[in-house]
Amino acid sequence: MPKSHSSKRAGKNDRKPSISALVRDIKKQLLSDLQSDPPISTAQLKTKYLGKQGMVTRAMKEIGAVAPEKRSEAGKELNTLKLWAEGQMSRVSETEKMRLDSGIASDDGFDVTAPFPPNTTGSERPGLEPKVGTLHPLTTVGEKAIRIFESMGFHLVEARRLDDDYNSFEALNIPKGHPARDLWDTFWTEDRLIPIPHTSAMQNRILSSVKPPIREIIVGKCFRNEATDASHEHTFYQLEGVYVDKNVTLTDLIGTLSHFMNAFYGRDIKYKIQPSYFPFVEPGLEFLIECLVCGQRGCPFCHYSKWVEVIPCGPIHPNVLRESGLNPDEYSGFAWGLGFDRLVILRNQISDIRLLHSGDLKFLEQFR
Ligand code: PHE
Repeated sequence: MPKSHSSKRAGKNDRKPSISALVRDIKKQLLSDLQSDPPISTAQLKTKYLGKQGMVTRAMKEIGAVAPEKRSEAGKELNTLKLWAEGQMSRVSETEKMRLDSGIASDDGFDVTAPFPPNTTGSERPGLEPKVGTLHPLTTVGEKAIRIFESMGFHLVEARRLDDDYNSFEALNIPKGHPARDLWDTFWTEDRLIPIPHTSAMQNRILSSVKPPIREIIVGKCFRNEATDASHEHTFYQLEGVYVDKNVTLTDLIGTLSHFMNAFYGRDIKYKIQPSYFPFVEPGLEFLIECLVCGQRGCPFCHYSKWVEVIPCGPIHPNVLRESGLNPDEYSGFAWGLGFDRLVILRNQISDIRLLHSGDLKFLEQFR
């Protein structure tokens, strides 16, 4: 998106660097400090970045000077920076502790953990390039999505990794022998447990234990017996939403999802709704957005349809409410199941979904 600075050129804050630039500079400097040789101690790093006069602390004070409409975005950037810096520090202090505990502190010049040939020291260390890890794009995107829903009043719950038939299917209006079970063809353990095929497996637990109004989001890793291709993976993340109150309508569902999309991509995103089928919602719907990979010109990712299905959703089926002890004449609600992987792909225009779980460093390093 083109950014125009011209209209505000005379503003008194223009000479100050923007928060994004500040965040970038601090990050760069911390990364270079982390690689310094000899290493800088955690205590020194903490004072320099997180202490009262530390760079991150001072940057956080700059928030007052940011235009009110940009404050929330800048605040998020700064918080992310702070969390990241704290994470780096604890990583460094763990390494320090490990070295001390195992008696490989550098005095004898021999460090069995060093990523270079053991018989080289000092400046001759070829290939010494401490690798600094980064957050996986699925983590970044997941955290961003969670923050948006939290700002709308939703409360976060984590899904189970393994669950039973009742929660995965039966409580969701999919009795044994129901043909819709094929949609979630999955794996079973010998004890008849299931690595969850969808985060909807948490719906009954939430509906039967939280008193309305219910506003919960559930994040979980899901598994399916899937023949993989560029747009299908057997392992993926879902973010489920469950909302129940009196007089909840379809417009509440559509408003919630379109607000989320706009907040996530930072602009008004075109969307449409089309019918679909899931036994636990009635009617079953699919929330589609404009294809951001091709800008709606048509591409293999959207199968030349210019739209991408991103959020299966719908009003919660009366049978599901009843099964969890809620009276469908009194309460109504909606649910959705958003796949993170698709959001990452659309945001970064990635051509193959399998790259996300491949562990390929060449791919991941692009998200620094
Ligand atoms: N659980 C469904 C799936 O994974 C998605 C969904 C969730 C649909 C909630 C409607 C409501 O396919």
